[in-house]
Amino acid sequence: MTDLNAIDQRVFPPTARRGRECGRVKVGGLAVTDLVAQFGSPLYVVDEDAARDRARLTREALQREFERVGTEATVYYAGKAFLCVEVAKWMLDEGLNIDVSTGGEFAVALAAGADPGRLGFHGNNKSEQEIARAVAAGVGSIVIDSEQEIARVAAAARAAGVRQRVRLRINSGVHAGAHDFLSTAHEDQKFGLPMSRAVDVAQQIAAHDSLEFLGLHCHIGSQIFASAAFRESAKRLLSVYAELGEKLGAPVPELNLGGGFGIAYTPEQADDVPDIAVLAAELADIVAQGCAEAAIPLPKVAFEPGRSIIGQAGVTLYTVGTTKSVQLAGTGDAADQGKYNGFAERLYVSVDGGMSANLRPALYGADYHAVLANRASEAPAQLVRVVGKHCESGDIVVHQELLPADVGESDILAVAATGAYCWSMSSNYNYVPRPPVVAVREGEARMIVRGQTEEELIAQSVI
Ligand SMILES: Cc1ncc(COP(=O)(O)O)c(C=O)c1O
Repeated sequence: MTDLNAIDQRVFPPTARRGRECGRVKVGGLAVTDLVAQFGSPLYVVDEDAARDRARLTREALQREFERVGTEATVYYAGKAFLCVEVAKWMLDEGLNIDVSTGGEFAVALAAGADPGRLGFHGNNKSEQEIARAVAAGVGSIVIDSEQEIARVAAAARAAGVRQRVRLRINSGVHAGAHDFLSTAHEDQKFGLPMSRAVDVAQQIAAHDSLEFLGLHCHIGSQIFASAAFRESAKRLLSVYAELGEKLGAPVPELNLGGGFGIAYTPEQADDVPDIAVLAAELADIVAQGCAEAAIPLPKVAFEPGRSIIGQAGVTLYTVGTTKSVQLAGTGDAADQGKYNGFAERLYVSVDGGMSANLRPALYGADYHAVLANRASEAPAQLVRVVGKHCESGDIVVHQELLPADVGESDILAVAATGAYCWSMSSNYNYVPRPPVVAVREGEARMIVRGQTEEELIAQSVI
């Protein structure tokens, strides 16, 4: 029997709890009702300690384990998950570097006071201006994503009078995500170059005096729960390292294995998520073993996790507007499984946000977990679908959830694990302003990203 009042800290941040007397959910010591009263709804809330702790634990675990096998690990926070000046500062403070994918993300990291040497620059179509600006600023590394980019980065480095450190993005043919992985010989996607081009293109890079070749980069996917796919990918990359070492006349110094560590979005997924300490130990053994098999020295390694650092630190609060009950029998939709079984009707609970604040359910069919957050309730469970206010039937916030049957107008829902790829992918669809982001810590809240107003959106129209 699901306890509808439970706050599962395997999905919510560790400070999230339901007040015993008032029944309100608190995050970072603050009641959601007070947060909404002060900052409005919808509201993105980020638990600062949860984000910092996760960043530090990830860095420490990877550094410890790679040191154990005899090399060094650098951890980049993948800014695409959620970047603003404040979050960039947290990550830098916790000893992480930052991976940026555009000139805009690069500028945010610099605005946070980042040493440009701690930034890695990605992107499959960086403009010449973006490259020139990053190189001139002293960016730590650029991930070359196409053959054309070699000449562009080399020219920018010559113009700036520097030797630019670069990596080469390669598709190892391993695609991971959720529980299994798919291994293919050919890639039909826009990022990186095929494995078969690695040696030739790396040699092209090494032929430029203005470029310093650090090694290969490979990101195999997201929501990865086990190390098997990393093993296969690392094995393939390291076999290229052996050949490259011979051709270049020196061992390849670094290997970047990308990000993609999985998190639990729902309590049902929680048991599948590996402890970062265990995963780090496996990854270190994988690289050490791969190098031993390829008979090459251990390179330094780098990782780029985003979601696993910031995802569970975030909670989004929404206010309920309308509700509607829909009969399921005969629609074919009643075949929901497990704990959702046996309901003859589904309650559509409409909230004041939707796909503009979290695109992932519409984009990927992503699952989320919601609880009634402004009060506890002893009402029986009702199968609900939480939906937004946009003009799309796919505008879903939580595909299916059990909520107390008395959920209704003015209630606040808290949706867990919304720290990654929610604000960063948000839009103004239907002229809905983006909500603010508030950081909470030890009973204090501060806005770290301002929300938008309708006036600001209207002002974009040329009148
Ligand atoms: C190159 C690269 N690195 C890192 C990441 C971060 O992935 P995640 O947030 O799943 O850790 C991504 C995500 O798309 C990526 O494309």
